Amino acid sequence: MKLILIGFMGSGKSTVAKHLGRLFTLPVVEMDDLVLQRCGAKDTHEIFARGGEPLFRQIELKVAEECATIDNAIISTGGGVIMNDHVMNNLRTFSGKVIFMNVAFEVIAERLCGDTSRPLFNDVAQAKSLYQYRQHLYRRHADHVVEAGNGTANEVAEEIAKLCVNYGK
Ligand code: S3P
Repeated sequence: MKLILIGFMGSGKSTVAKHLGRLFTLPVVEMDDLVLQRCGAKDTHEIFARGGEPLFRQIELKVAEECATIDNAIISTGGGVIMNDHVMNNLRTFSGKVIFMNVAFEVIAERLCGDTSRPLFNDVAQAKSLYQYRQHLYRRHADHVVEAGNGTANEVAEEIAKLCVNYGK
């Protein structure tokens, strides 16, 4: 089974991925961590400082190509993977199922208040426009949409697990 979690920054993909990894006894692949490793950067800001968002997207695509060789895993993506069909096609290999974790922008803004780790969330108004722009892309790429703004990470993971239990191992 290969599950790909997509959703905007702060939607809880990484935390829910860990729960799903435990539920299904599957390894969790954290795309953002791989992006940092691939270019030896300490954080995302460093990559943006070196080559802006284009450099980040370039490395993200390379990481997605590596993920194309992975079966049986929970993949936690960066919020921007839906901007590039090549990235999504690579992630989907081995019949990967894509789950969109939808969270209202107000909830996300509250969660990320004071968090300075994301270059694309420096400005709340700009982040909101990006959120609105991306909504249809998340839905277009998703096999399932899960409302992930209210329950605990464990509850969200249980809901995703129920949807995906028939995809087999
Ligand atoms: C991004 C989301 C981030 C990270 C990068 C770009 C985006 O990941 O990949 O800062 O474009 O939405 P998270 O969704 O894990 O915050």
